[in-house]
Amino acid sequence: MVKSGKSPRIRPDVKEAAARHVHKLFMQAGSSDLVRVLKKEAFKQVYRQMIHEPDLFLPRTFPDDIEPWSGEKVAGPGEFLSGSLVLPTLPQVQIQLQEILDDPESSMEDLVEIINNEPKLSAAVLRLANSGLYQLDGKVETPAKAVEILGFEKAGSLALGTVSLSLFKRQNNPVLDLKKFWKHSIACGVVAQEIAILAKLGDPERFFAGGLMHDLGLHVIFESDQGLALELYKLAHSDGYNLYKAEQELLGFNHASLGGYILNKWKFPRQLIAAAWGHHNPRKVKTDPDAMVTHVADFIAQALGYDLGISPVIGFIDRTAWEKLGITGEQVIELLPEIRRLIDDIFQILED
Ligand SMILES: [Fe+2]
Repeated sequence: MVKSGKSPRIRPDVKEAAARHVHKLFMQAGSSDLVRVLKKEAFKQVYRQMIHEPDLFLPRTFPDDIEPWSGEKVAGPGEFLSGSLVLPTLPQVQIQLQEILDDPESSMEDLVEIINNEPKLSAAVLRLANSGLYQLDGKVETPAKAVEILGFEKAGSLALGTVSLSLFKRQNNPVLDLKKFWKHSIACGVVAQEIAILAKLGDPERFFAGGLMHDLGLHVIFESDQGLALELYKLAHSDGYNLYKAEQELLGFNHASLGGYILNKWKFPRQLIAAAWGHHNPRKVKTDPDAMVTHVADFIAQALGYDLGISPVIGFIDRTAWEKLGITGEQVIELLPEIRRLIDDIFQILED
C-alpha cells in the first residue's frame, strides 16, 4: 500500500511536457540500448527540473543590440581563421607541458618542476588528484607525490587538460552560456574517462583531456561574432536541425573540424586532435578510439543535462561506435551517481 504523503503525486501536465521535451531531445538519436536507458534517465531529470526549476524551460531572450551577422560560407576552418579573428595565444606553461610530454627524454622531475612553478596549476593538480577521479582520495599532498603516484603520462595529461581549460575564458557571451560550456566540457571528459575504463581501452586519462577540449572549435565560433552566434542558435531551433547541421549550413564547416584544425596548429598530442576533429565525423567515430569515445561521451553528457543550451535536439549517436565499445547502457547508468559527483567536484576545482 502506498503511504499517503510519502510518494509525491505525479502531475500529468508536467509529465506530458517532460515527455514532449525528451522526445524532441532524442528525435535524431536513433535506437540502441544506450539511447533507451538514457531517455528514461533524461525523463526523470526533466520532470524533476520542471517541478523544481521551471524557469530553466522558459524561452531565452537576447539583447536587441546584437549586430546581424553579415558573413557567408567559407572554404573551411583555415579561411574562417584568416579573417579578423584572433586566436588566444597559448600560455607559456602549456607550451612547456606539450614539449616535455612529446619528448621521450623528459623525466618526472621536469614535469614536477613545471607544475611547481605555477601555483594555480599545482593547486588544481593536487585537488584533482584527490577528487576521486583516480581513486586516491586524500593521499596526495604535493605535486611531486601526484606525479609519482599517477605516473608521468597521467599527471601530464591532467596538467595539460587543466591548463587548456583556462583558455576558455568566462566573460559574458549573450548566446553561449559559458558556465554551461565548462560543465559540458568537464562532463564529456569525465564520461569519456569512465567509458574508456569500462571498455578497457587503457590510458583513460587521455580521454579525460580529449573530452575537456573536444568543443574548443564551438567556443571559438560563438566568441567570434555575436550575430553569428545568434543566427546559429535560431537555426539550431528549426525543425530538422541541430547545432552541428546549423554550423554546416551557415559556415560550410563545423566546430569539430575547426577545433581539430586549431589543436593541430597548436601542436597538441595526436589523440586530443582526433577527439576534437573526429567527434562528429561519421567515419572517424567508427574507427578512431579517441573520436569514438568522445562522440559517445558527448552524447551521454548532453542526455544527462550537461548540454550547451543551444539546441533542443542532441543529434545523432553512431550505433556502430557505441557497440564497438562493448559496454551496455546499464553499465553507464550504474556509474551515474559517481559521474555526477565527479563533474560537480571537478567543476568547482577548475572554476577557482
Ligand atoms: Fe561537438
